[in-house]
Amino acid sequence: MTSKKRIAILGSTGSIGTNTLDVIRAHPERFEVVALTAAKQVERLAEQCVEFKPRVAVVSDAGSAKKLCELLLAKQVSTQVLYGPDALITAVLESDCDTVMAAIVGAAGLLPTLAAAKAGKRILLANKEALVMSGNLFMDAVRQGGGELLPIDSEHNAIFQCLPVHYSKSPSQHHGVEELWLTASGGPFRNTPIAELSQVTPEQACAHPNWVMGRKISVDSATMMNKGLEVIEAYWLFGLPIEKIQVLIHPQSVVHSMVRYCDGSVIAQMGQPDMRTPIAYGLAWPDRITAGVQSLSLTQQAALNFMEPDLQRFPCLSLAFQAGKQGGTAPVILNAANEIAVAAFLDNALQYLQIPEVVERVLNTTPPSTPSSLEDILEVDAKSRVLATDVIQRLHS
Ligand SMILES: NC(=O)c1ccc[n+]([C@@H]2O[C@H](COP(=O)([O-])OP(=O)(O)OC[C@H]3O[C@@H](n4cnc5c(N)ncnc54)[C@H](OP(=O)(O)O)[C@@H]3O)[C@@H](O)[C@H]2O)c1
Repeated sequence: MTSKKRIAILGSTGSIGTNTLDVIRAHPERFEVVALTAAKQVERLAEQCVEFKPRVAVVSDAGSAKKLCELLLAKQVSTQVLYGPDALITAVLESDCDTVMAAIVGAAGLLPTLAAAKAGKRILLANKEALVMSGNLFMDAVRQGGGELLPIDSEHNAIFQCLPVHYSKSPSQHHGVEELWLTASGGPFRNTPIAELSQVTPEQACAHPNWVMGRKISVDSATMMNKGLEVIEAYWLFGLPIEKIQVLIHPQSVVHSMVRYCDGSVIAQMGQPDMRTPIAYGLAWPDRITAGVQSLSLTQQAALNFMEPDLQRFPCLSLAFQAGKQGGTAPVILNAANEIAVAAFLDNALQYLQIPEVVERVLNTTPPSTPSSLEDILEVDAKSRVLATDVIQRLHS
């Protein structure tokens, strides 16, 4: 047996983070947790530190850090406690990790994930927003750092499994791949009359029919912005033009995505809708390990259906395709406006149907540019957030 992999989990208290710890818990001979980070859920992070004894733990502010120190002292756990955005980077660079699970939600995950890429770590990428915002820069950083980038999003992980093993060494050659088919459940409102969507509450939007996820991604799944972000993510990960990335509604969430080849073959990856499968795949790659996931029974599966998405019902998907095709900073603008709009919706300060309205207004009033640095990206991100906040305020006045 080779030495244990040393894992840092950015966003360990979230849905992906806790699922990652669940897989790690079952394989103590393979993995050691060296860094855990959260924003505010201090008690949950403390419990994780007591169990996994990382070298470093990070929270977002001084108050949370003080509380975490007290909780750890009471349990005689000697984990070093840090706080603030820079500490996330410290956790990646100074915890001696070799693998980073990037599972912070939203743009907040960008800088530490980029730092991991530059440092040549194996990155298990759940935080799609990092790639959507800084695709070019991020892929360059991975190449220069010389590490590995393994997608954890179930669709991209499925595609990764369906591609030839040598694909990522020369994606520009396409290796006979004609199209990528990303599947989408269609979320909780796939069949709800459009007229009823204006009354939708955050609780209804977060009640996904097949997957249990964090609140932001659950709303993104309901609007299908999530699938739109995934299209852009797939573009950067697999190097195919946006036109060759198709979205298929597949309500059963059994086929996680597919690759269509030039010889007529279509290769699909199937399984239960449980994130522990792609997480286990990323953690152990190229090996396979148990993930605690029930095996799939196709004989108990009534039917597998596939259909094209209705873009009138899911305008966010159209907007994401638009931003993906525009390129440059358009995806940064899209992502920032969406984060602000979704946060406002979750705070009951915006109606569900106003989410695409806010994104569209911000996207269409900000001409995209070509970013040449991270600073450019962060500036566009900040300006788009201000603009989105203004749009929301004007919708109320
Ligand atoms: N959940 C899924 O099934 C799934 C599937 C595919 C991809 N993803 C992607 O994975 C990422 C995580 O999703 P999730 O569902 O796990 O989200 P989540 O449950 O909301 O968890 C987010 C994690 O990030 C931390 N966090 C939030 N804001 C932060 C900030 N400003 N600075 C530092 N840490 C912060 C949270 O800490 P606190 O708990 O302390 O707030 C938590 O640990 C997202 O990018 C999502 O799109 C998720």
